[in-house]
Amino acid sequence: MLHRIKQFYWDITSEFKDIDIKFIDKYLNNLEKELFKNLNKAEQHHCIRVAKLAIKEYLKLEEVNDLDMLIKICLLHDIGKIGSRLNIFDRVFLVLGDKVTGGNLKKCTNIRKINIYYNHPQIGAQKLKSLGYDDEFIYIIENHHKKDIKDNIVINILKLCDDKN
Ligand SMILES: [Fe+2]
Ligand SMILES: [Fe+2]
Repeated sequence: MLHRIKQFYWDITSEFKDIDIKFIDKYLNNLEKELFKNLNKAEQHHCIRVAKLAIKEYLKLEEVNDLDMLIKICLLHDIGKIGSRLNIFDRVFLVLGDKVTGGNLKKCTNIRKINIYYNHPQIGAQKLKSLGYDDEFIYIIENHHKKDIKDNIVINILKLCDDKN
């Protein structure tokens, strides 16, 4: 609950905070930067927070050897939300609606915002596939909300950092 309040606060303040362009420039190529800029501002801040936390987590581990790739994945993990126009009220509605309906809200895939909320991992994976990203990269994006996948260290770091942000 406290975490949700924190997210809500981050959402409302995100419009007034500058995007850390230096950080983006360091880890994304031009095409990726264009993609990233199409996320709404709250999502951009979210992805940057996830990536920065992942750097801290990475330093505790030895299993991941490509930090740059990990950061790129974190920055692009929600790329399937491009064009969603999910605003803060939509997000509150979706989070509460999911709880109240016991997850049945996800069946309403004919409603664009609901579809993107639940299926952005698949939508993002498709987008990256069409841009020629490798299978491992796509696999991680596609499964970043799957609870039953526990044996992929990058997914585990991404999930951990995503949940905290
Ligand atoms: Fe996500
Ligand atoms: Fe996320």
